[in-house]
Amino acid sequence: MKKMRNASTMSNAFLSFSIKDFVLHSRTSCYYFNLSEIEKNIQALMSMSDERVKFIFPVKSFPHDEVLQLAARHMNGFDVSNAMELDLVKPHLKSHDIVWSSSPNVWTPAIGEVVMDGAHLKSEWPKNTSRALRVSFSAGQFQSRFGTSLEQITADDLTRQGITALHFHHGEIPVNLPVMTQGLERLAKLVDACPQIQQVNLGGGFTGLTQAEVESLVASARRLLPQQTVVFEPGRWLCGSAGLLIGSVTETMPHAVTTLSRDGHLRWQREPFTISMHPMHLSESQQYATIKFVGASCNEADQLGEISSREISVAKGDLVVVSNVTGYSLAWNHSFNGVPAADAVFFRAPAPK
Ligand SMILES: Cc1ncc(COP(=O)(O)O)c(C=O)c1O
Repeated sequence: MKKMRNASTMSNAFLSFSIKDFVLHSRTSCYYFNLSEIEKNIQALMSMSDERVKFIFPVKSFPHDEVLQLAARHMNGFDVSNAMELDLVKPHLKSHDIVWSSSPNVWTPAIGEVVMDGAHLKSEWPKNTSRALRVSFSAGQFQSRFGTSLEQITADDLTRQGITALHFHHGEIPVNLPVMTQGLERLAKLVDACPQIQQVNLGGGFTGLTQAEVESLVASARRLLPQQTVVFEPGRWLCGSAGLLIGSVTETMPHAVTTLSRDGHLRWQREPFTISMHPMHLSESQQYATIKFVGASCNEADQLGEISSREISVAKGDLVVVSNVTGYSLAWNHSFNGVPAADAVFFRAPAPK
C-alpha cells in the first residue's frame, strides 16, 4: 500500500481547475499537469547552471511535447535512450544542445554533437560521437545492471579507448545526498587520474532531495571535478507537485472501487502519492473509519491506498484525486483489463503561495 503524503503543496488553483475540467467533460480518468509548476522547477534547476554545469532532460521521464518544449526552452539538451526518443526531440534541438545517448547500445544517431555511452571498455562507438563510458552505480547490495563497475576501470584503459566522458546514473534505488556524494567522490578519484576526461554526467535520481540538497550536490560536483563539464539529468524531480490524476468512485462496498487503476495509470509511478476525496453529493454515502481505494481491474494488486478518518463518508460519484503524479505515469498510461487509459490535460495555473 502506498504511503499517504500531505497534499498541501498542491496549489488550490491547480486542483480546482482540474476538478472543474473533469466534471465539465464527464471524464472517466484524467491526468492534469501544471506546466507553470514544471517550468518553475526547471528554472530553479537552471539557476544552478553555467558554462561548467549543465542540466539536460531525460526524455523517458516525460516524453510529451508540452514538456519537451519547456525543456528545450530552458535546458542544455536531452538525454535520449534510442532513435525513437531522438526523433521526439529533433524538432526542438538547438545547435549548442548536448545530446547524450544514455542507453549503452550501439546505434548511430544521425545528428551532429552527440555523447554516446558504451557499456564496457570494449564497446564499439559509432564515428562522430564523443565516447562516454557508462559507470555502474553500486550502493550496499545494489549493483546497477548498466555499465562497468568503477573497480574494473583504470585511467590507462580510458586513455587507450579514447574515452572522454563518464556517465554515472543512480537509477531508481532510493538514494540520499550522502550516498550520492560518496559516489561522486569515488568517481572523482578516477577522473583526477585521467586528464582526457572532459565531461562527467552524474545522472538524475534527485527524488526526495530538497532544492538545498540539490544545490549542495552541484557544489560538491564543482569542487570535486574542477576541470570538467558536469552534466546532470534529473527527470522526476522536475515534476514536483505538478501532476495529479482524477477518477471517481463507482462502488462503495466493501471498498471504494474507482475508475482508476494502479496497473493502468500509475504503473511507472515510483514516488509516494497521496489520495484525497472530493464529495459530489450525487448519491447516499457510506460512513467508514478507514476506507480502502482500489482500482477497477480485477488484479489483486490493483490498490491505490487507504484513507483513515473518524468520520469519512464515501458515495458513488465522489472524486478521487491522486497527487504527486509524475510524467513516468503518463508515459506508461495504458488500458488494462478493460479499464481505459486516462486522458491527459496540460495547463498553466499559478504557483502555490
Ligand atoms: C540514464 C538516465 N538518466 C536520467 C534518468 C532520470 O532519472 P530520474 O527521473 O530518477 O531523475 C534516468 C531514468 O531512469 C536514466 O535512465
